[in-house]
Amino acid sequence: SLFEEAARLIRQSKKTMVLTGAGISTESGIPDFRSPGTGLWENLDPMEVLSTRVLYNSPEEFYKVGFKILSSMRNAEPNEAHYILSEMEKDGIISGVITQNIDNLHQKAGSKNVFEVHGNTREGSCLRCGKKVSFEILEEKVNKKQIPPCCDDCNGVLRPDVVLFGDPMPYAFDLALKEVKSSDLLIVIGSSLTVSPVNFLPDMVRHLIIINATETPYDYKADVVIREKASYALGNIW
Ligand code: OAD
Ligand code: ZN
Repeated sequence: SLFEEAARLIRQSKKTMVLTGAGISTESGIPDFRSPGTGLWENLDPMEVLSTRVLYNSPEEFYKVGFKILSSMRNAEPNEAHYILSEMEKDGIISGVITQNIDNLHQKAGSKNVFEVHGNTREGSCLRCGKKVSFEILEEKVNKKQIPPCCDDCNGVLRPDVVLFGDPMPYAFDLALKEVKSSDLLIVIGSSLTVSPVNFLPDMVRHLIIINATETPYDYKADVVIREKASYALGNIW
């Protein structure tokens, strides 16, 4: 079966990294971006809502729409797929997880070596002086109707430290790139592989497994493509 074939590749690999996207968290109740019917980008434009352009030019607008999406992810709990990956890391089967997600669910499930290449929803910072604040501070200020929330030191606008369209990639991406280059196998789980530069990663390894509910542009390169839900597929593979 495809599951056995995937398990065999994993056993044979000296170093395996995992790349996850929003699809691994839909079973935790967080909508993804591009699933037909339920994806967030069905009704919203990502280049707008979560962009530096909107954050810089109309911060109120950013906080009314984009920020709500980020904030709504913070109460979710990991699902079986996150837990299986955390077990696989403990058992030395995978070296780490590179995630485009900002929901913190890999860490909540116990994964240690996590590369958050699109930032996270734990921290924020001041656009003017760079001061770091916790994400809770942003939420508190927004709840008190301080929109946009401003820095206590310099009154600059505060931002969440997620990667917005228009932002440069964080250092974690350079580290993730190195990890992938030294791996023999990459397992992609729940990503449409349509956003660069993250979607360059599948080109940089010898072996590729893709677990995704729908087609991706990299399916033709993969040793194994499993078109199932993440938790079901991982449960059968490991
Ligand atoms: P997408 O929404 O583009 O893709 C998620 C994929 O997961 C889709 O192809 C779904 O078919 C699949 N999927 C959904 N539920 C699944 C499940 N239970 N099991 C398996 N597959 C499932 O999300 P990403 O690829 O993560 O960037 O999107 C990449 C980036 O685009 C995000 O990080 C975000 C977004 O704009 C930024 O905000 C910078
Ligand atoms: Zn400041």
